Amino acid sequence: MGTVGTLVALHAVSACVWLGGMVFAHYCLRPAARAFDPPIRLPFMADVLGRFFRFVWGAILLLVISGYGILSVQGFGSFGVHVHLMQASGIVMMLLFAHLWFAPRRRLERAVANKDWPAAARSLDQIRVIVTINMWLGTFTVLIGAGGRWL
Ligand code: HEM
Repeated sequence: MGTVGTLVALHAVSACVWLGGMVFAHYCLRPAARAFDPPIRLPFMADVLGRFFRFVWGAILLLVISGYGILSVQGFGSFGVHVHLMQASGIVMMLLFAHLWFAPRRRLERAVANKDWPAAARSLDQIRVIVTINMWLGTFTVLIGAGGRWL
């Protein structure tokens, strides 16, 4: 498969894990979990999201290593504007995710530990807003990354 092939495969799988997880959380998990009362739903959501967000850290690490790996093997000048756009929106996604992890995710876990359901619900709502933004940015990033030959 070669070095670039392996890096592109790692890159694509990591993008699938991150974007697919957000689509699942937003469109499937969240609406279904609404059926449960806050004392059940909020600890459950904190647990599920904490597990998923650890995968996201792994995906980010692989996306960065493989993305810059492809560029260093192929030559930084050998790609078109789509790679700049992917990189820019990818970095915005990563910054938003880091904020999500260090602020609302941490507050959610603390509120759940204290059984403070209104505070936990507020933090979960902040996570929802960031995940929604990242899901649409991620859709754009993947379309640009995989469909870059349109440009
Ligand atoms: C942040 C730094 C990033 C760099 C430096 C980077 C770099 C690259 C490069 C060099 C390519 C190959 C382009 C080509 O063959 O025309 C690529 C493809 C791709 N990238 Fe990125 N990327 C980054 C972030 C992301 C992110 C955050 C995502 C999605 C969440 C993403 C999704 C993709 C996809 C889906 C492809 C197409 C893979 C394929 O051809 O099968 N990239 N990227």
